[in-house]
Amino acid sequence: MIDIHCHILPGTDDGPETIEESLEMCRIAALDGIKVIVATPHFRPGISESSQEKVSDLIAILMDKVKQECIDLQILPGSEVTFTAEMPDYIRNNEYLTINGNGRYFLTEFYPSAVPLHWETVLLSMLHSGYVPVLAHPERNSFFMNNPEGLSAIVRSGVLVQITAMSVTGELGEEIQRLSIFLLKHNLVHVIATDAHSSVHRVPMLAEAVSIAADVIGKEHASALVTSVPAAITGGKTVIFPPPQLSDQKKKRWPQNILMQ
Ligand SMILES: [Fe+2]
Repeated sequence: MIDIHCHILPGTDDGPETIEESLEMCRIAALDGIKVIVATPHFRPGISESSQEKVSDLIAILMDKVKQECIDLQILPGSEVTFTAEMPDYIRNNEYLTINGNGRYFLTEFYPSAVPLHWETVLLSMLHSGYVPVLAHPERNSFFMNNPEGLSAIVRSGVLVQITAMSVTGELGEEIQRLSIFLLKHNLVHVIATDAHSSVHRVPMLAEAVSIAADVIGKEHASALVTSVPAAITGGKTVIFPPPQLSDQKKKRWPQNILMQ
């Protein structure tokens, strides 16, 4: 399995503080069947920025230890870029922020309680300039809890959706789990990733979530969400998806939870 969203580098964000904890996360991931992890430290334009050199150096240090312990795991560079007005320029000017530095797919997250004004327009403009946004964990955003159909149009346009393994397993609450299952059923999920931050509380494990997803969408489809699809993303290749099975008609309550900025 391939995990395209993992805060595994030490001392870069709210993930592990020490290299020892990062290494323990690697052991947990490998035991779960994960072979590739994309290290995605938070990147908040103008606020919290990890440089390309820092990310590369930390990956090299961690991979040395992974090899010393003969852990069967590869770590690739990436980032989780917070969606702000400056985000498009940062992505366009800093290829290393894209997944595996491939200059095509990038992982972006909204703040949890709202979506920014013009979020759809910004994502579409990125698509038109050759980038593919991968929207991180919308199932945890209260806007999409009230408006799951809000994802349909943007997914139809080519934006990909990543949901979090612990959302699927119910460890982040029943409401989030319900929405995760709903999105899976309606072809609104392209990737399941761990969004792990720790070796204790938010751990890098995918297998249980895939098993639950298999009961909803079938084994082959569930497996693709952690194998062939993330492989295409890390490789910068195109993947064809079945269309969403949900109308993208906006409901009357649409305007709530839109962040004015
Ligand atoms: Fe994250």
